[in-house]
Amino acid sequence: MPEVVDKLIEFHKLNRDEYAELLKYSENAEVRDRLSSEAVKLRKEYYGDKVFTRGLIEFTNYCKNDCYYCGIRRSNANADRYRLTKEEILDCCRNGYELGFRTFVLQGGEDGYYTDERMADIVRCIRRDYPDCAITLSIGEKSYESYRMYKEAGADRYLLRHETANDEHYRVLHPEDMSLKNRKECLYNLKKLGYQVGAGFMVGSPGQSIYTLADDMMFIQELAPEMVGIGPFIPHKDTKFKDEKAGTVDLTLYLLSIIRIMLPKVLLPATTALGTVDARGREKGLMTGCNVVMPNLSPVMNRKKYDLYDNKICTGEEAAECRGCLERRVESVGYRLVSERGDAL
Ligand code: 5AD
Ligand code: FES
Repeated sequence: MPEVVDKLIEFHKLNRDEYAELLKYSENAEVRDRLSSEAVKLRKEYYGDKVFTRGLIEFTNYCKNDCYYCGIRRSNANADRYRLTKEEILDCCRNGYELGFRTFVLQGGEDGYYTDERMADIVRCIRRDYPDCAITLSIGEKSYESYRMYKEAGADRYLLRHETANDEHYRVLHPEDMSLKNRKECLYNLKKLGYQVGAGFMVGSPGQSIYTLADDMMFIQELAPEMVGIGPFIPHKDTKFKDEKAGTVDLTLYLLSIIRIMLPKVLLPATTALGTVDARGREKGLMTGCNVVMPNLSPVMNRKKYDLYDNKICTGEEAAECRGCLERRVESVGYRLVSERGDAL
């Protein structure tokens, strides 16, 4: 067994060169199994057989950004744009609450229509109607002051994937008007404000290497977020990356196990993208240290339009179907979907 494997397991941390070294073994069956069983051992130690669930509400696909990989990027004229009203969002929550969700994730593009006032009003209404639920926002880069307003309105958590912690790689994926520096600053601001924070990245995005991934591991180690969202990159037909290869399940699983060992108490979702590249991808994630699933609560008529990547699953299902489907999938690998807020330990 390579020395770096034992070192990660013993100290829950490595340096950049060691992460790069560890990443060379992603196709070595023995190393994979060792990391995976250690990851599962840790997740069971802290979370037993519980899997937390989050109701995902994709409330707008308008976006002012132009990230090269994303299907709802500003310059994609083929994207069929929509916005949900506050009432429609609250309907999703009502439906979700009845189905047992105790966390609502409001995710959207960076859409100027939802001013800070409008956003705070939506959050306040959810907070008033569902005092026992967690509210998670995932609406991109905002100022410290904006984040403070949402927090005061009742938001508990914030998801903002850093996408890559390597400057050069960041430039491969994003146009000039975006910067890794600002993204990192946002994440630190969110932490400072007391949010439970989620960072993360796509696996197998164009230009990624074991060295950029080593930077991702170092950044996650330093930030120590409460949540980490990773899923395979999947090409979208209307982007310049349309002919690029998708990220693999195997590398995603390998990274999930490393992240679980690095941050034993982390909330780690088995993502929709993982379920898209492999019909049993989410189950495989759960068997490698994941402890969260995020089914879709958005109205069915909008789902296809929240088109980040090709062939996204669940776009024709009602919320109840996704909930039921995931419950069965979770149980098929020996875990149990619970109806709790599922806060970070
Ligand atoms: N493939 C996989 N994931 C994607 N995302 C955006 N576009 C793609 C794609 N083509 C991810 C980004 C973003 C999250 C909401 O969706 O990581 O942060
Ligand atoms: Fe949506 Fe399976 S999770 S149908």
